[in-house]
Amino acid sequence: MNLVLLGPPGAGKGTQAERIISKYHIPHISTGDIFRENIKQGTPLGQKAQSYISKGELVPDSVVIEIALDRLERDDCRDGFLLDGFPRTVQQAEALDRYLTEKGSRLDYVLDIQVDKEILVDRLTTRRVCRDCGATYNIKGMPPQKEGICDKCGGELYQRADDNAETVNNRIDVYNKQTKPLLDYYEKAGCIVHLDGAAGLTKLFEKIVSVLEG
Ligand code: AP5
Ligand code: MG
Repeated sequence: MNLVLLGPPGAGKGTQAERIISKYHIPHISTGDIFRENIKQGTPLGQKAQSYISKGELVPDSVVIEIALDRLERDDCRDGFLLDGFPRTVQQAEALDRYLTEKGSRLDYVLDIQVDKEILVDRLTTRRVCRDCGATYNIKGMPPQKEGICDKCGGELYQRADDNAETVNNRIDVYNKQTKPLLDYYEKAGCIVHLDGAAGLTKLFEKIVSVLEG
């Protein structure tokens, strides 16, 4: 099962990804997570990506494409994968298509999670993430049992540096300009499914399962 999660910042891609990978046992490949890990470790890639991420701009295609395709080469992707936040431009989508075609493979579904802008801003400015395991919370909608502590691993929860109102607004603008054209791209490819991301977590997950198994 080769899947892509598409949708604006805050749509719930990471949240649904946690559920999808635990049901279907495929690797979760989030380019955003790869960049944040590299920033934390202070690698050259992290240093390069940080200036773009902190402004809410996209990291250049050449950099992202290499990272994503390298990751897809790993053995754990042989029976499928869940891409989250890649591709984000038509150039990235074309590079992914070329890569899969060369392998005699293709995407099965692009799951497009749609949510209105006001909801996105609200969700992102109240999001908290576990420093250790990456689990996602929301201090309004999905709070942890103990404030500031991850329910799953006891790690410390933090607010992402790009989750302030100004950067969030820019990320949404960037999505509208650079990523939205992918809706048309995948419509033509015939593999896109549109989903209501304002539905509750469980309802949305059930809908995804019905698409994947339907
Ligand atoms: P990335 O990490 O991919 O961030 P993003 O796309 O901005 O998306 P988010 O992770 O912010 O949102 P999400 O959809 O995962 O929502 P979540 O599930 O957490 O990328 C970060 C940066 O890296 C980019 O800006 C760019 O600079 C760079 N980058 C990454 N990939 C790149 C690429 N391919 N090309 C170029 N640059 C790239 O949920 C959000 C909140 O809502 C949470 O609090 C959650 O609890 C809550 N929530 C989720 N679902 C629901 C629901 N159904 N109901 C109520 N609340 C919900
Ligand atoms: Mg995410």
